[in-house]
Amino acid sequence: MVQGTVNWNTQLDKEWLQEYVDDWVSFYRKHTKEGKLASYIPILGKANPHHLGMAIHGKNGMIIRSGDVDTPFTIQSISKVISFIVACMERGVGYVLDRVDVEPTGEAFNSIMHLEMKSLNKPFNPFVNAGALTITSMLEGDTATQKLEPIYMLFEKMLGYRPSLNQEVYQSEYESSARNRAIGYYLIETGFLEEDLEITLETYFKQCSIEVTVDDLAKIGLLLACDGEDPNTGEEIIPRQIARITKALMLTCGMYDASGKFATYVGIPAKSGVSGGIVAVAPPRVRNQQFPFIEGCGIGVFGPALEDRGNSIAGIRLLKHIASQWDLSIF
Ligand code: DON
Repeated sequence: MVQGTVNWNTQLDKEWLQEYVDDWVSFYRKHTKEGKLASYIPILGKANPHHLGMAIHGKNGMIIRSGDVDTPFTIQSISKVISFIVACMERGVGYVLDRVDVEPTGEAFNSIMHLEMKSLNKPFNPFVNAGALTITSMLEGDTATQKLEPIYMLFEKMLGYRPSLNQEVYQSEYESSARNRAIGYYLIETGFLEEDLEITLETYFKQCSIEVTVDDLAKIGLLLACDGEDPNTGEEIIPRQIARITKALMLTCGMYDASGKFATYVGIPAKSGVSGGIVAVAPPRVRNQQFPFIEGCGIGVFGPALEDRGNSIAGIRLLKHIASQWDLSIF
C-alpha cells in the first residue's frame, strides 16, 4: 500500500488503483477453476466458468472496472435485496418483519428442513428462498406484471436505466422449479404465502432473471453505502431505516451459510446470486485516511464458478483480498 499523503482522487491515483485491481483480478481468475456453475438451473450451466469481473464505484466519483465487466448476467438472489426493499416501502417494515424473520439459517439458500425447525414456521430471513417467496407474495398487485413494476421503477432510479428480463433464463428457471414449488406449497400450508402460488413464482423467477452488469451492482452497493441517498444528488431513493436493515441482513444472511466467514474475513455487507454476481457495500470509514475509497464505495463482482454454498468462488477471494488491503471492514 502506498504510504504518505495520497488523496486517492487524482488521475495518477486512479491509474495506480486501476493497475492494482487489474493485477488482482488476473491473479484470482485462476481460482475460477476450483468452482462449479449453477447447473441446477440448466441455462446457468452454459456460462463461461472462467469469467471474472469487478467494478468499484466510489462516493468520490472514482470508478475502477476490471476483467469481464461487459458481460451481462442475471441478478438471481441479489434481486431478493430489491424485493425486500420494495416490500418494506410498500407495506412498512413492521408488516414485513412480522411475516419474515431476520435470523441467519446456517443452511443452504433453498433448504426446506429449516422451515420446520421453529415453532411458528416463519421463514428465517428474506434472502433464503422461503423468505424471498414470502416477500414476493406481499408485493402489491394482482399479477406478476403489476408486482414487478415497482421493482423495475426502483432499478431505474438506482441505475439510471430500466434493465431487461432474460427470457431464456426465466424459462429455464420455470422449467426447473420443483424445489421452489415445494417451498411454496409448504408456505401455503403454514399460511405465510399470501396469494396464488403461480403468481408468486412467476414474479420471483422474473425478478431473478433481470439482467445486470457489475457496474449496476456497484451502483446499488454505493447507494446502500450512502444509506439510500443518491450519491450525486442527495435525493432519498431508499428510506434510511430500510437501507440500514437491508445492510444488516446482507451482513448476517447475504452469503447464506458462508455469511459468518464472509463477515469475519471480508467484513462488509454483501449479497450473492447463483449466476455469480456479488454486490458488496463498503460504508464510509473515519479511520485510516491513507486507504482508497474512505468515503465509501459499492462493489460489483461477477464470476459464475461457485463454491459449494452458491457464492462466486473467485469473487469471494478477490473481495477478501481487496477488503483486507484497503481496510474496508466495518469492524
Ligand atoms: O431460486 C433460485 O434457486 C434462484 N433463482 C436464485 C438462487 C440464488 O441466487 C442463491 N444465491 N446464491
